[in-house]
Amino acid sequence: MKALIVIETCFGNTEQIAHAIADGLRTGGADIEVIQAADAPTPQGFDLLLVGSPTHSMGLPKAATRHQARAKGGHPNDTGIAEWLDALTSLAGQRVAAFSTITGGIFSGSASKAIEKRLRKLNATVVGREDFTVRGTEGPLADGEIERANNWGTSLT
Ligand SMILES: Cc1cc2nc3c(=O)[nH]c(=O)nc-3n(C[C@H](O)[C@H](O)[C@H](O)COP(=O)(O)O)c2cc1C
Repeated sequence: MKALIVIETCFGNTEQIAHAIADGLRTGGADIEVIQAADAPTPQGFDLLLVGSPTHSMGLPKAATRHQARAKGGHPNDTGIAEWLDALTSLAGQRVAAFSTITGGIFSGSASKAIEKRLRKLNATVVGREDFTVRGTEGPLADGEIERANNWGTSLT
């Protein structure tokens, strides 16, 4: 199984989750690469595509929220998942899964929901969606989230 994980991250938490998912997928026998959205190609030839992002203002990061993250010491790229998805015209027939990091609580929202919606609009086949909790804007990840991401990755094979 060949898989690609496309992410963006400001403080590194979503990236840590992506690598834990990748390790889980490898346990299940997958050949997998993690790539930043700013460097990601149009996906072709993958059995599974995973798309992950931090949650900003209850949805996907935008230029303005990345700017806010930078002001808090984060290191976002200038473009991310929203812009990468904007450039795609179709993912028909592509198996996909979405994930995000969230601080949790009732006003948390979830970037993974926004990603799922965008992937469905591109006619992808959504096989999973998951949110992983961070303890604050900069992290760290909540206890057990690396293990949960690892197990989720394995379950996707
Ligand atoms: C500008 C900004 C807006 C945010 N808005 C939300 C939000 O609406 N809901 C939420 O759960 N977390 C929010 N967060 C916290 C992020 O979820 C957290 O910074 C992120 O998960 C960390 O992931 P990263 O290390 O990959 O950037 C926000 C963070 C920033 C910087």
